[in-house]
Amino acid sequence: MDKKSISEVEVRGKRVLIRVDFNVPLDKQGAITDDTRIRAALPTIEYLIQEGARIILASHLGRPKGQVNLSYSLAPVAKHLSELLAQNVVLAKDCVGDPVIEAAHTLQDGQVLLLENVRFHAEEEKNDPTFARDLASLAELYVNDAFGTAHRAHASTEGVTHYLPAVAGFLMQKEVEFMGNALERPERPFVAIIGGAKVSDKIGVIENLLEKVDILIIGGGMANTFLKAQGFKMGKSLLEEEKVELAKQLIEKAKEKGVTLELPIDVVVARAFEANAPHRTVSVSEIQDDEMALDIGSASAERFAERLATAKTVIWNGPMGVFEMDAFAKGTERVAQAVAICKGTTIVGGGDSVAAVEKMGVADQMTHISTGGGASLEFLEGKVLPGVAALQDKA
Ligand code: 3PG
Repeated sequence: MDKKSISEVEVRGKRVLIRVDFNVPLDKQGAITDDTRIRAALPTIEYLIQEGARIILASHLGRPKGQVNLSYSLAPVAKHLSELLAQNVVLAKDCVGDPVIEAAHTLQDGQVLLLENVRFHAEEEKNDPTFARDLASLAELYVNDAFGTAHRAHASTEGVTHYLPAVAGFLMQKEVEFMGNALERPERPFVAIIGGAKVSDKIGVIENLLEKVDILIIGGGMANTFLKAQGFKMGKSLLEEEKVELAKQLIEKAKEKGVTLELPIDVVVARAFEANAPHRTVSVSEIQDDEMALDIGSASAERFAERLATAKTVIWNGPMGVFEMDAFAKGTERVAQAVAICKGTTIVGGGDSVAAVEKMGVADQMTHISTGGGASLEFLEGKVLPGVAALQDKA
């Protein structure tokens, strides 16, 4: 990574503002249901504790739209982080203002203060310079470890870098290095497997990957639009009619670039979008008018698995079917297994594919699981992430 790392600057005794992405899912009682993002930030936080820095953590949680709304409070995170670090993490009542300045300035070496949700202030998402300066005034150094929010140019991710020396944390480094190396210096064959409901969400990703990969596998609801573009009748399947022309162009582009494009050859169909709907597996040429494709079929899954078996680099983003319903989860599960046993570098991003990998118990067999949803998609699109761009370059 060409950005300066936290390991390259002096931190002892300094007040360090770390932007983390603690935007974690909570259940109705406010309990954290998945703490991956909190654990992923621990290497940076623990390093700074060890080095005797005074740590001020900033994050958003949810989308409270610039209003104080305690259902989006970071209180559950402060409690959980206290347990993970085995030391008390104090939650400030706000993220700016005199009491917060006081709390930040009285921190001792190795102590940790968590600021309340930065999105309780509308100025955060507006990247308001005064608000950014107020955040910056709490500290002497800024570290961005929030890869998941690096695609947002907000006050706590971008604005603040105008007022403090700004470096990358270990999670930020790891994410950018794994995904950047895969895209720029892949060991070949390089196979990308893209799924999810809609083509429109991933046009940029597909276009960028067609410039880089040897094999592009497309599954999930978005494959329906490509199959339609190839002339198959898709019945009642989810389909973006207005993207069929674009799908044709992408199929052509793959040919021009010499990229092997793999689409499903069979699908699991049902007459209703219901977990217990009767279903059958058919060739993509046999879908009836009243049927909808809800998963890739077993022949497709095996073919995709064969492609993945010989890959030296794999990027996977998006499920192969309606993964939430057991009857239509098999394609995604088979792909998760195939990626897990692949000997190459394997990178998984996107909520559903990560959930699949975890459900199958193969998460530790992946080279890298991204903490970014929107951020990893934008990275795969080849976009510059403002939260990364704003950091200091390596000397
Ligand atoms: C995410 O969950 O993708 C990040 O935390 C960013 O959240 P946002 O989409 O609300 O900006």
